[in-house]
Amino acid sequence: MLQEVRKTVSFIKKRVKIEPEVGIILGTGLGGLVKEIDIHHVLKYEEIPNFPVSTVEGHSGKLIFGFLGGKKVIAMQGRFHYYEGYPVGQVTFPVRMMKFLGIKYLFLSNASGGVNPDYKIGDLMIITDHINLISNPLIGKHNSEFGPRFPDMSEAYSKILIAKAETIAKKHKIKIQKGVYTATTGPTFETPSEYKYFRIIGSDTVGMSTTPEVIVARQMGLSCFAISIITDLGVPGKIVKVTHEEVQKVANKAELKMTLIIKELIADL
Ligand code: HPA
Repeated sequence: MLQEVRKTVSFIKKRVKIEPEVGIILGTGLGGLVKEIDIHHVLKYEEIPNFPVSTVEGHSGKLIFGFLGGKKVIAMQGRFHYYEGYPVGQVTFPVRMMKFLGIKYLFLSNASGGVNPDYKIGDLMIITDHINLISNPLIGKHNSEFGPRFPDMSEAYSKILIAKAETIAKKHKIKIQKGVYTATTGPTFETPSEYKYFRIIGSDTVGMSTTPEVIVARQMGLSCFAISIITDLGVPGKIVKVTHEEVQKVANKAELKMTLIIKELIADL
């Protein structure tokens, strides 16, 4: 893995002169952030050695280098999901690559189903902690160049960044929830009993991404910030049929608010 990361990094460094300090995984809801980036270079996933190729509708595959809020950023337009069939080590490969390119911070977004009965469709939730029920990406042979064998996860999501994001949301009168995100493999949405189970174990929302990337990022010492759009509700009495299209539709509506928070947060680093 280390050799592959080094090879990919050296390929990129030959082509791109920007040394990014911030990494962004543009998941659901953050697609519009691209328009805010002063783009200097774009690489298609297909041209990058060792890079997996994204297959899901609504996720195109490009690595974008540029400036956002006065910071040098690298943004992944299109992420990889475990349910697509990639081993979890492949899903998180880009995070290792971004760290070796120099990033110190990682920002992520996703869509999720709310299991907290106080949540409403369209709400934004700052992820304060997670429960990872996708395979752990650190299982396997250890290489200390990536960080410790047994990484601490007591502050997976940076408390400083969470506090700053709350201040930004307040300033713009954006309603924001804070809570625990549980990641499951997907690709099925949950049965009513599964939603109930996720609530019982301590979740506020359920989704199919983010935790593998954050685990790898934390092993390498990156500060992480993640935000989720509640696109449907897994709350007894409010459960209706969920479709990918509906998830995208709700996410698109919340995009402006999410983009604003992330943009200002990056400017404030
Ligand atoms: N469950 C899992 N993943 C999701 C959901 C959900 O209800 N909504 C959006 N992504």
